Amino acid sequence: MAVDKKLTAKLTFPDGKETTLPVVVGTEDEHAIDIKSLRNETGYITLDSGYMNTGSTTSSITYLDGEQGILRYRGYPIEELAEKSNFVETSYLLIYNKLPNQAEREYFSNLLTRHSLIHEDMHQFFAGYPPTSHPMAVLSAMVTSLSAYYPDSLDRNAPMDLHITRLLSKVRTIASFSYKKSIGQPLMYPRNSLKYCANFLHMMFAVPTEEFEVSPVLEKALNQLLILHADHEQNCSTSTVRMVGSSGANLYAAIAAGILALWGPLHGGANQAVIEMLEEIKLSGGDYKKFIDDVKNKRENRRLMGFGHRVYKNYDPRAKILKKMCDEVLAHLGVKDPLLDVAKGMEEIALKDDYFVSKKLYPNVDFYSGIIYRAMGIPTNMFTVMFALGRLPGWIAHWKEMVEERDEKGAPTMKIGRPRQVYTGEKTRKYVPLEQR
Ligand code: CMC
Repeated sequence: MAVDKKLTAKLTFPDGKETTLPVVVGTEDEHAIDIKSLRNETGYITLDSGYMNTGSTTSSITYLDGEQGILRYRGYPIEELAEKSNFVETSYLLIYNKLPNQAEREYFSNLLTRHSLIHEDMHQFFAGYPPTSHPMAVLSAMVTSLSAYYPDSLDRNAPMDLHITRLLSKVRTIASFSYKKSIGQPLMYPRNSLKYCANFLHMMFAVPTEEFEVSPVLEKALNQLLILHADHEQNCSTSTVRMVGSSGANLYAAIAAGILALWGPLHGGANQAVIEMLEEIKLSGGDYKKFIDDVKNKRENRRLMGFGHRVYKNYDPRAKILKKMCDEVLAHLGVKDPLLDVAKGMEEIALKDDYFVSKKLYPNVDFYSGIIYRAMGIPTNMFTVMFALGRLPGWIAHWKEMVEERDEKGAPTMKIGRPRQVYTGEKTRKYVPLEQR
């Protein structure tokens, strides 16, 4: 971050007074007005519901240009990472800000392999949930529980690298165990001979009674899916991880909070909502034009799920990759999913329709991902868990960036996240005793 001494912004107040504020310029020439001194100097605060114009932090992890449809992790374009990298390497890149060399990659992979088991006592937790439990409820509770098994994580000065690899590895085990539990199959332990994504597919789909071969096409597709979800700068769940972490709460608690924020249908829950929407359209005869008409006329507050984004005002670059992957994976599996035809038909109409064009609403990452997960055999209520698995390295990278940031004198810069408000309630009222009300 650089404060450009030549650039300032002048603010004039209702009483005619003026204040001059510094301007901060990022490496991609993004400009921000630094209002740190505003309240102290003027008594004013800023009001920005939904944080549409507020930069909550500086960050060197992900660059996102919503107008141009650009996404880069640590400077590397998402298209290149999806094609050439794998999820473990991309996780390392996000968390440690470099592509690992051979030795670093092996060390990191070995740690992930060695820490894949969860404490045997935790198996009883799975048994306690009803079969109808949403796996996001189970996942968030289990991640919080991990802090009970690793109490040194509560010490803010303890080394965190081991906890980071534990989380990355165990979330995968927890996710697959929660699925196995929900369908009444025995839990499949991780197999150390398998790589990260192959191991996950094994834990999800193998049964003790049969041989199970992981399809290399599905392994590659899963790697790509997780890479595409791995970070997206200050979105709702990542901001939640930072907010919870800013109080000094431990890493597991901060990540569990991120998982819960992701659950909502406007965020990571959208991939589940897309499939539910497509299924509803198919069940009611497949008339997606009528559905689009309902959306445009805001009937029953309908939205075209998987469309629109707070930051992208262009085609989401992740959706572009996923659309292509969708055709490839379905062709490989020999699956003909009628929902894909409905989705493509809706996209074609929406991209030409003035309602969507004028509001710059394009398909986002969630529009096609669910169709791929469905073809892979992953049930709809697990889609948001898949998103969480992918987003985990991003959450960790942001938490790490925040807790490790130091000023030029080496002092921590982390401040507890605590926005202000403009109070609009009653002025002081006198308490009225019950018998007089
Ligand atoms: N379908 C129909 N209309 C929409 C949609 C949509 N999917 N998204 C936005 N609009 C309309 C909205 O009604 C509003 O219209 P008007 O100006 O007439 O009131 C306008 O576009 C602006 O919408 P907004 O809700 O103010 O925009 P936002 O930036 O607050 O919301 C969003 C962004 C992603 C929550 C929203 O586009 C949405 O609800 N999309 C559907 C859910 C979804 O797919 N979410 C996944 C996002 S990508 C993955 C992730 O980051 O988690």
